[in-house]
Amino acid sequence: MGAPDYVRHEALAKWVEAIAALCKPERVAWCDGSEEENAEICRGLVESGAFIRLDPDKRPNSFLARSDPRDVARVEDRTFICCRRKVEAGPTNNWMEPKEMKAILNGLFDGCMRGRVMYVVPFCMGPLGSPFSHVGIEVTDSAYVVANMRIMTRMGRPVIEMLGADGEFVPCVHSVGAPLAEGHADVAWPCNPENRYIAHFPEERAIWSFGSGYGGNALLGKKCFALRIASVIAREQGWLAEHMLILGVESPEGEKTYVAAAFPSACGKTNFAMLIPPKAVEGWKVTTVGDDIAWIKPDPEGQVRAINPEAGYFGVAPGTSEKSNPNAMATIGANSIFTNVALAPDGDVWWEGMTDSPPEGLIDWRGEAWSPGAGKTAAHPNARFTAPASQCPCIDPEWQNPEGVPIKAFVFGGRRSAVYPLVYQSFNWIYGVYLAATLGSETTAASTSAVGQVRRDPFAMLPFCGYHMAAYFSNWLRFGRMINNPPRIFGVNWFRKDKEGKYLWPGFGENIRVLKWIVERANNHAKGVESPLGWMPRYEDLCWKGLEGFTREKFGELMAVDRDQWVGELLAHEELFMKLYDRLPKELIFIRELTLSSLWRSPEHWEFSRLPAGEPDD
Ligand code: GTP
Ligand code: SPV
Ligand code: MN
Repeated sequence: MGAPDYVRHEALAKWVEAIAALCKPERVAWCDGSEEENAEICRGLVESGAFIRLDPDKRPNSFLARSDPRDVARVEDRTFICCRRKVEAGPTNNWMEPKEMKAILNGLFDGCMRGRVMYVVPFCMGPLGSPFSHVGIEVTDSAYVVANMRIMTRMGRPVIEMLGADGEFVPCVHSVGAPLAEGHADVAWPCNPENRYIAHFPEERAIWSFGSGYGGNALLGKKCFALRIASVIAREQGWLAEHMLILGVESPEGEKTYVAAAFPSACGKTNFAMLIPPKAVEGWKVTTVGDDIAWIKPDPEGQVRAINPEAGYFGVAPGTSEKSNPNAMATIGANSIFTNVALAPDGDVWWEGMTDSPPEGLIDWRGEAWSPGAGKTAAHPNARFTAPASQCPCIDPEWQNPEGVPIKAFVFGGRRSAVYPLVYQSFNWIYGVYLAATLGSETTAASTSAVGQVRRDPFAMLPFCGYHMAAYFSNWLRFGRMINNPPRIFGVNWFRKDKEGKYLWPGFGENIRVLKWIVERANNHAKGVESPLGWMPRYEDLCWKGLEGFTREKFGELMAVDRDQWVGELLAHEELFMKLYDRLPKELIFIRELTLSSLWRSPEHWEFSRLPAGEPDD
């Protein structure tokens, strides 16, 4: 039961012993992260029926896992921030008093690993040895979690060695909450839907998760650590932990610009991070640093730099195809785990949108025979792949730079079928914070709320901020005062629809046209006009090569700012502000007023393509 001899950290060894005494597993296994250990874990998962080995020629060293149908996504209503004072968690988080939560958890974790192996998973968020990085130790009774953590983080013995005798780590305790009674066979996906807690203790920097084996609930380095706990650490230390992708853009002249972008869950971060420009937009190239999380700090000169704390992608499978994202398709070619996708008779995987028509003889994500007329999808809408970032063909050469990459622009976007234009640049940092704070997105089938309703999702961080959301806005305002040459802040919306309900903008690779304008603006090369919301490109400010059919009129429709719609929108912003009022920075209230007055001083339906040249301002 004892720790291996390379563990020199007494406090760590003691903590693991204490957790084992509480959870009462059959045995404890410290993970070293080696190939052999991983092969052994995957073999065990195949034997227990938790993994299905995919065809070794089509998908080498890759596996399919099917979850319990009651355990398919993050559980926001069971996610808690347990700080001493409720006001610190703020109105957008579930809160419970730490002692009260601990009493519940102590009851639930007592004996919860009976009959199972308790794995000790040391992991590092960020490159080993980077000044950005933080270490966590996840104790878990799920071998599936171990296999995923090995892809998603730097995991194993090197992390323990880096910790030495007294390094700091965030303790993370996870159990699927399904002890095995003696003589009882296990199920393929043990979980405990009746008793679920994803609990965070920001003051002592600890995470306890019970009852779920899925994604963000169980891979504790990701949302729990790298966002909720890290956002609290970041506030204390003057940096930012964000739900953002990071990409590099190279111009035909070889100028490299890094951009970080926040879109809510399932709104296209992975696609945007791996964008391939159409041939006609010659010479522009996009490379990927990260697809989900960014840790952002100023360097000693005040230049903003960022790392991706993860080492893999846990991406939405449905909709991913050779057409929509060939880079992702190449990344998941081998050494990957697929969860809740369909299984084809040739031993490969399939999901909606992967090909135009499904192969015959599919087994759906529940393990049942499926055909196109079945009236249900073959893959779960939140089916995911887990794949090593190093396999991404467009990975940025600097993606593991311990000093991070310099960020020149921040982009925020949600799914909005109306109101929001394709792109605009905020007038300044404070306007940018307003734009991000009021971000909204229409819900999709992947979420629990009614489809198509706008949900406010400030900075795409609503489910991931570890403290009061309005105090988080203040942290952004403060950050803006700490840095030199602040990154420019942009809003984008790929999802605006016409009267027939069709997307106005083709999206995907064509988004390079918008990204090109963004990086040119950030580098002070591009033109734009002032709109009521911020700076916008005119038709002639974007590159239309290869997309000449996209008319000036259509662009006008895509970029229009309609006063009535915006008045409604500003009322919704006010509703959010009322909720956060006790800590809301005053700046945001004034920006709202300024935006309103700009709207009233502009034409009712502001569309620059229709503005007569040189219209006088009153
Ligand atoms: P999480 O991993 O949940 O944080 O989400 P993500 O933001 O990485 O989501 P992902 O990239 O997997 O989003 C996928 C969804 O966005 C799919 O439904 C895509 O069809 C859609 N999508 C991505 N890019 C575009 C685009 O440019 N236009 C349109 N219309 N849809 C897009
Ligand atoms: C998200 O929901 O934003 C994700 C997936 O990235 S999960 O890790 O499950 O939270
Ligand atoms: Mn995410």
